[in-house]
Amino acid sequence: MKNIFVLLLGMIFGVTPLGVAAAQAKDKAFDKKVTIGVILPFSSAFRGIAEEQKNAIAIALEKSGSDYRVIYRDGHGDTEHAVKAFEALLKLEQKPLAVISCGSWTANALHLLAAENDVFHIAIASAVLDRTVKQHTVRLTLDVKKEEKQLAMYLERFQRIAILNMDNSYGNNWAKTIQHNFPQKTVASVPYDPMSKDFTQQLAVIKEKNPDVVVLLSAGTAAIIAQQARQAGITAQFVGTRPIQRPKLLDVAEYTNGLVYTYPSYNANHPFSHAYERAYNIAPTIFAREAYDAVTTLSQAINSGNTSPRGLFDWYRGRTYAGALGEVTFDDNGDATYPYMYKEIVDGEFHVAGFQFPMLLQQKKEEIDQILHKMFEGLEVAGDKLSVVGIKGEAATRVLQELYAANAHAFDCATFDPKGVVVDAAPEKVSYIIGVDLSHQEQIVRLKKTHKPVLSTAIDTIEGFVGFDLQHPIFSQKGEFMGSVSILTELEFFGSVIKQNAANFPVEIWMMQKDGRIIYDTNSEEIGKNLFTDTLYTDYPLLIQVGREMAQSKQGKGHYTFLNKKLKSNVRKELWWTTIDVHGTEFHLVLSYVKDDFE
Ligand code: COI
Repeated sequence: MKNIFVLLLGMIFGVTPLGVAAAQAKDKAFDKKVTIGVILPFSSAFRGIAEEQKNAIAIALEKSGSDYRVIYRDGHGDTEHAVKAFEALLKLEQKPLAVISCGSWTANALHLLAAENDVFHIAIASAVLDRTVKQHTVRLTLDVKKEEKQLAMYLERFQRIAILNMDNSYGNNWAKTIQHNFPQKTVASVPYDPMSKDFTQQLAVIKEKNPDVVVLLSAGTAAIIAQQARQAGITAQFVGTRPIQRPKLLDVAEYTNGLVYTYPSYNANHPFSHAYERAYNIAPTIFAREAYDAVTTLSQAINSGNTSPRGLFDWYRGRTYAGALGEVTFDDNGDATYPYMYKEIVDGEFHVAGFQFPMLLQQKKEEIDQILHKMFEGLEVAGDKLSVVGIKGEAATRVLQELYAANAHAFDCATFDPKGVVVDAAPEKVSYIIGVDLSHQEQIVRLKKTHKPVLSTAIDTIEGFVGFDLQHPIFSQKGEFMGSVSILTELEFFGSVIKQNAANFPVEIWMMQKDGRIIYDTNSEEIGKNLFTDTLYTDYPLLIQVGREMAQSKQGKGHYTFLNKKLKSNVRKELWWTTIDVHGTEFHLVLSYVKDDFE
């Protein structure tokens, strides 16, 4: 059995045959069973979650044979019981090497206690954790601070936000976070006892405020809440977070249909999914996945010879593994990171929310449009000043310096005479461009012809790099064309905006010029290449075809095959595109993703 486990770990974690042999040798050194304590909220409103986690741990242990003595304790649904459960574990004949705990309130209570008692701590189902001790607790749940960014991107569209949250550190902390993000829009924030079944009072307070959205910081209780809210006449959109996806919600779909929530993007094809479904006849939720990964990774950490909390922590720190949660990376604090997305209940089923793809693309487009718009506004103001003080000389230089200082994306700012020769520039380090004739550059030709603002495509600059040039005409007080004022950016300009990306959604955003040149891609090797002509793309005719379609129409969707993110193997990617069209120059902004990352 143990061999099967080691082999399975090999499959899951990519351990080499040599690694397997080493793990087996190390196993022999552990002939005394290691104790692992597991504190789950059995006697609580979260009982279904606790049972799911226990079932998942049973599958993980089945693979690991009898290597571990796993002792369960009931943490109920509160801090006091969780602490008692931990103390009971300490009194065992063999103190646990590690304790796994569920629930933010439990994680917060045990975090310090575990460190003080030299017990390694793994927190699962704990989005809120106030870390006071370093290098001791590892957590498999994404922190609220990351999830909240995604939730906020959806909540932005609403005007009157009401919050109904379970009264514990998970719900209260989330409620505070939303209030903090939307101080003007939050019209009610009402806690509830997680054991309660009657929400008449709380819902009356909420209804009174006439919200257009109700955020339910709940797990399975959301089913009753949604039913009672709809029956009370609350018609607002329901929104939730990770724990809300519980099977119960589908039993009352007539009330929960339309619920939108943030949820991890996990690996639906991991062998654990099938093993769980075979054993329990139901698909595992994220709670089971965290529990399974907690035990399988802990087992690997122990099998690597770590017998101290610090050794175990160090095994996790900075590690990336592929498990039931998908590809997970632990940061230096011991917190797991993995992508999240939006899901929704449609026709009584949990679905990946289709609206997120055009929404993310549109938000990114608006962000870029706004930045370009502000830069052109700055140019217009500078142009007005230069119209008075002239396009060169001390006063003109001051205008250019101000423009440069106000534009974070500017590499330099310059004035041009009516022919297209640079006559002044800032900052001082680029004074070597003064006197250079740029009248041949396409955007200058256009500006001279139209006397209107222009944005270049990617150009080879005299400064020595590939960049983008924003030009605004200057007219004298009498209305005569005096030349132009410019902001030059580096090639990274669009990339720097795109990169502050789509807060943790498993999508890629890239950009292409009309002529096929790639302006930005997550894979930096592709930036600057031409989709229509570069040999990198020759074997991907569908991608070239889609590129040609993009060059023809301003928006659309489709799919293509290309290399995955690591440029290792081919994958089918779905794509949506839109167009940034500024002063006649078009850039096609593309959002692409792999369907399997949205399961
Ligand atoms: C959390 O605290 O992050 C949880 O998901 C707790 C859960 C048992 C509702």
